[in-house]
Order: sequence, then structure tokens, then C-alpha cells
Amino acid sequence: MGLALKERPDVVLGYHLVPAAASALLVARAVGAPGDVLAGLGTPQRAGLDVLLRSPALTIFAAHWAPRMSLPAHDHRMWALIGIYTGREDNIFWRRIKDEAGGRIEAAGAKALAVKDAVPLGKDIIHSVTNPIPRLSGAIHVYGGDFFATAGRSEWDPETLRERPFDLEAARATFREAIARFESGG
Ligand SMILES: [Fe+2]
Repeated sequence: MGLALKERPDVVLGYHLVPAAASALLVARAVGAPGDVLAGLGTPQRAGLDVLLRSPALTIFAAHWAPRMSLPAHDHRMWALIGIYTGREDNIFWRRIKDEAGGRIEAAGAKALAVKDAVPLGKDIIHSVTNPIPRLSGAIHVYGGDFFATAGRSEWDPETLRERPFDLEAARATFREAIARFESGG
């Protein structure tokens, strides 16, 4: 690849082509050469989302999960692509239980993502994510909209599996806690 992904993600990932299929090909190609992505973005140093591009039509960020960090089940309400360039992500996919009050979900499948894996997620996908290994993960995430400004997203209580409005502040707190644990060697 050789291009500075951080400087021109639009060029590298071809966001002007926007269709999910085109982005999927480009993400697959990018993470197919994980060394190039690491050269462009650097080795992950900190848990968090390193936003490369944010627009009403597209969001691209590098997601770094802290060791053994877990994000509760949530939806995106837009198509998404995840491509791993370092470390691992374990995804559990969930589905709503038909006619169940409270929007409860049940596990529907799982996918263990490793370096070079790239997966498309449909706009109705509900997933939870865990980094199962003792070092930071790195994945390119592409979303078909403004990931940070989509109203009406949901998350699910990890204990009761009941639906509630997505809480961005709670997600930020999860990252802060994971960073503190990681930096204290915990
Ligand atoms: Fe997600």
C-alpha cells in the first residue's frame, strides 16, 4: 500500500466510492498487508478510537481494544466493515428474541477475527466485542454514515440482555477504565 493511511484515508480506502462492497474490497486489501497498515498508522499504543475520517456519509477509525477489554452488545444502524491488522477481536453476534418484552437478545453466532480477517456487518447487526489477548488490538473500522452522530442506537445490558439507549458516555468510561487498567499493568 505504502500510502500514509493516517493522512489520506479517503485515497487509501476509496471512500468516494462509498458503496459498502467497494469499501469491503479496499479494507480487505489494506489488512491483507498488515505491515503496511502498521507502517502507516503505527503500532497501537493506547486503547481508543483513532478517527481517520468523519463525514455524514462515512466514518473511518482505527479501533484499539485494551487487553481483555469487552464492549457490551450494541448496534450501529448503518453498514460497517472491520478489518484486523494486529491482535484479535472476538465477536458474538446476537438477535432479538421474537415477541420478547424489553428487546431481549440471544446469541446467534460468533466469529474469532485475527490478522488479515475482514468482515462486513449489515446495518441491523447486533454484536459484542472482546479482545482476548494480553496486548492491544488494531482494526480498521468503516461505517456507512457518521458513527458518532447516529440517533436511536441501542445497547444491551450485559447481565439482563435487555435493550437500552446506547450510552456514548458509558462507552467512553469503559475505554478510560481499560486504559487505566492497562497502564497500571492490571
Ligand atoms: Fe460495534
